[in-house]
Amino acid sequence: MRKKLIAANWKMYKNPEQTREFFAAFLPLVAGHTRDEIVVCPPFVDLYAAVEAAKGSSIAIGGQDVYWKEEGAFTGEISSSMLLAAGATHVIIGHSERRQYFAETDDTVNLKLKAALEAGLTPIVCVGEVLEEREANLTEDVLRRQCLRAFHAISGKKAAKLVIAYEPVWAIGTGKTATPQMAADAHELIRSEAAKAFGDEFAAQLRILYGGSVKPENAKALMAEEQIDGALVGGASLDAKSFTAIVQY
Ligand code: PGA
Repeated sequence: MRKKLIAANWKMYKNPEQTREFFAAFLPLVAGHTRDEIVVCPPFVDLYAAVEAAKGSSIAIGGQDVYWKEEGAFTGEISSSMLLAAGATHVIIGHSERRQYFAETDDTVNLKLKAALEAGLTPIVCVGEVLEEREANLTEDVLRRQCLRAFHAISGKKAAKLVIAYEPVWAIGTGKTATPQMAADAHELIRSEAAKAFGDEFAAQLRILYGGSVKPENAKALMAEEQIDGALVGGASLDAKSFTAIVQY
């Protein structure tokens, strides 16, 4: 049985004060919830407030990106060891918004994934097709390429903590959700790519999350799919009540 992971991706929302307010409201609502793993990924400047607020709870904190070098003259970047030192345990890598707006490529995703695994972070690697690719029947090719290149030169042993998030780009922030069946099909393909790269046993354990307009109203149906091992939630994770409703699908 794969324990489901429900992750909040706050994107560029909330400051430290708002982060503390969120946790003050959220923690009592999910106290004692052990069925699923819960992770909140706030902007970097909120990490400290989030880690402090979540202390003593089972909520883990993650970054939204990471650079692959350990340290150096890389203005604006953050390393895996800095995330760990700040108390983060998880990190999102290769989110479609970073691919779209910040020149993230399959190769930089691979470098970041290697660095995060090496440091002992749990990486949540995002893959997914854009609308034109889905309409041109290229979804499978795109997912295969993204997985193949992300996993390049990484051993199954090193990759043990890997988590994948399937996020069809056309479903992010649009209110359009992939049907549970569409998501399950994509997840199966991703799992088969993981099996090729890391072996069947690894693939059977690998958690593949769905992301893209996950809301309290559709969480139950999505989470009921055997192939779906959790959710990466953007917009609906900003409000303590709606994120709680998703966590308690
Ligand atoms: P959304 O974002 O839930 O607002 O669609 C998901 C994501 O981008 O991770």
